[in-house]
Amino acid sequence: MSSYKARFKVWRGDVQGGDLEDFKVEVNDGEVVLDIIHRLQATQAPDLAVRWNCKAGKCGSCSAEINGRPRLMCMTRMSVFDRDETITVTPLRAFPVIRDLVTDVGFNYRKAREIPSFVPPADLGPGEYRMMQEDVERSQEFRKCIECFLCQDTCHVVRDHEENKQVFAGPRFLMRMAELDMHPLDAADDTGLDRKRAAQDAHGLGYCNITKCCTEVCPEGIHITDNALIPLKERAVDRKYDPLVWLGSKIRRR
Ligand code: SF4
Ligand code: F3S
Ligand code: FES
Repeated sequence: MSSYKARFKVWRGDVQGGDLEDFKVEVNDGEVVLDIIHRLQATQAPDLAVRWNCKAGKCGSCSAEINGRPRLMCMTRMSVFDRDETITVTPLRAFPVIRDLVTDVGFNYRKAREIPSFVPPADLGPGEYRMMQEDVERSQEFRKCIECFLCQDTCHVVRDHEENKQVFAGPRFLMRMAELDMHPLDAADDTGLDRKRAAQDAHGLGYCNITKCCTEVCPEGIHITDNALIPLKERAVDRKYDPLVWLGSKIRRR
């Protein structure tokens, strides 16, 4: 087993401000960035704040920016860096800092609450739902989400534009809207809820210019842009320019 000392710059501070601090920390074979942050806590900075839980890439808690890229600390192997490289660890930039590497991700929970939930079909009871396997598989991909919010952090619509947070749900929650919209048993339409229109008008689908940065950072490998956002955009546009839908809306308004 070989070990070496790696150079780290870790952001320390709170809502009042802060700065990068230099550390040299022991690294052993097979370790990930979160191991090093834990060793830093154990040996040099006992009050360093860091959020984590599973250490297995499943709880979505240990999100941070490593050398400026949004990543899970527990899934980033030290072997991907050169031994003489300085590794910088900073909190997620799109969310307010609480302390050190811990941010307030409440924005995401507020957005989650704004998305109208699944509407069960009125004429079917529990146990009577039937879906094509193809439809099950389509939404299964989105259900792999661990709510790490790395996609929310990296999307340029909010990353440098705090003002857009009011009107933009972000890729994770637009994906949720797409999932519900493509659900064959969702009866939202019957209640007068048009999910496509809501995605456009209330949740900022139009702000997404399909840069795909969200997809690139997703640790679950979900094709957020290709399989959720682009199809939702296409369906929203189809609906807007469908002459029958247009005629129907005119007749209903009379
Ligand atoms: Fe994280 Fe991917 Fe879910 Fe976004 S879609 S919150 S990047 S797991
Ligand atoms: Fe943002 Fe992803 Fe669209 S990064 S711009 S939501 S493709
Ligand atoms: Fe759970 Fe990293 S500690 S995803």
